[in-house]
Amino acid sequence: MYFMVILLLFVTLSPGNSETYSLNYIYTALSKPVELPGIHEFTAMGLMNDKQIDYYDSDLKQKVPRQDWMKEKLPADYWDKGTQSRKSKEQWFKVNVNILMDRMRHNNTDVHILQWKHGCVVDKQGDGSLRFKTGTDQYSYDGDDFLSFDVDTMQWVAPVYQALATKTKWDGVQILNQYTKGYLEKECVDWLNKFLEYGDKSFGSEHLPPKVYAFAKQSKTEGHLRLTCMATGFYPKDVEMQIRKNGVPLTKPDGVHSTGVLPNNDETYQIRMEVQIAKADTNDYDCYVHHRTLKEPIVEKWDGKCCDCSQTTAAIVGAVVVVVVLILVLVLLILWKKGKLYNTNAVPNGINAAPRAPNGNANGNGVNQVLLNGGPAVDLLKIPIKDGRTSPESGQGSNSSMESVALLNIDKEGTTKSNADSISTDSGEGGI
Ligand SMILES: *[C@@H]1O[C@H](CO)[C@@H](O)[C@H](O)[C@H]1NC(C)=O
Repeated sequence: MYFMVILLLFVTLSPGNSETYSLNYIYTALSKPVELPGIHEFTAMGLMNDKQIDYYDSDLKQKVPRQDWMKEKLPADYWDKGTQSRKSKEQWFKVNVNILMDRMRHNNTDVHILQWKHGCVVDKQGDGSLRFKTGTDQYSYDGDDFLSFDVDTMQWVAPVYQALATKTKWDGVQILNQYTKGYLEKECVDWLNKFLEYGDKSFGSEHLPPKVYAFAKQSKTEGHLRLTCMATGFYPKDVEMQIRKNGVPLTKPDGVHSTGVLPNNDETYQIRMEVQIAKADTNDYDCYVHHRTLKEPIVEKWDGKCCDCSQTTAAIVGAVVVVVVLILVLVLLILWKKGKLYNTNAVPNGINAAPRAPNGNANGNGVNQVLLNGGPAVDLLKIPIKDGRTSPESGQGSNSSMESVALLNIDKEGTTKSNADSISTDSGEGGI
């Protein structure tokens, strides 16, 4: 119990205290196209504080700004070079998702997904300067971690044995690992700094408080309700939520299920927590939500009502009415056929009597989750990319270390550092 309290305190204190900023790039490749609107074979995007700042997909074939300030402040050259870079990353993924499928002994029956995420998180110091906090460079396959870079040891970490070959290969070229560390700790932070200046107005003033709802619906289990606590429309995404019974937070062992923080389609976020309770339960339930935009946490009391219970009752009543009416009609028909009844107008009105229950949906606005249209639909995975720094043939049969050094030299000349995601991690030859 003590441990729980400490844990809760920790969770409570974590959001909002220090000012942190993040810049991440996420690339998602499918092993084959799927015929779904908004889902592309390859998608790439930049995210600053979890907001999209740029976007590319295999159908669009262009890197485009997703924030006005990105469009205004970055020259055409940035988007041209960025487009080239994304195109070669797309090729890299095409090749490497197949290599991985082979290694995992997966065939082409199902769609498989390779993702790469790289980026940095910084703290804003009292004097306004940014300090590197953490760096991410990780690949995932079908939503599971495949390989990730440890900035401190400058080594790749392989959580699955199929990734060992890649780890060995990449760790074999330490200069590339130094480069990766440098990108995460320095280059990424510099770009983040630049973007913060550019987008000054968009960061800070756009903090939005959550709207909080507490409601209950019928549960699939007889005699029970599904009590839901929902917060939506907030930004940034760090939030604390509890379903409380008589003021005491319920936890996982009590059957609380959380959706986790999900994106809305308007750059805000939502979260829902649910717990099943007995219909006869007369305890006080409320929904406790804290967010950095709030001086005091919001506590939304559940009114003890069930939104869709009358609907079910109404449907049952309606069904009974219909059955009774049908029997009546049948009886009348039989009587009429037997010549015992002459008045056929006896069919009562009200065959359509099943009343329409009011819509009990209390989900509020903006609950569409952005899984399509480039949202990060799958957990992170990553993949190394050539990033357009080499010609497609350059890796063939050459010494990969030599080539890596060549890559890095190009970088030092600054000719390819024109994009914030110009990072290359593969050793220049076969990739993964
Ligand atoms: C592909 O893999 C699935 C699942 O392992 C298997 O059921 C199926 O028979 C395989 N198909 C082919 C063509 O090998």
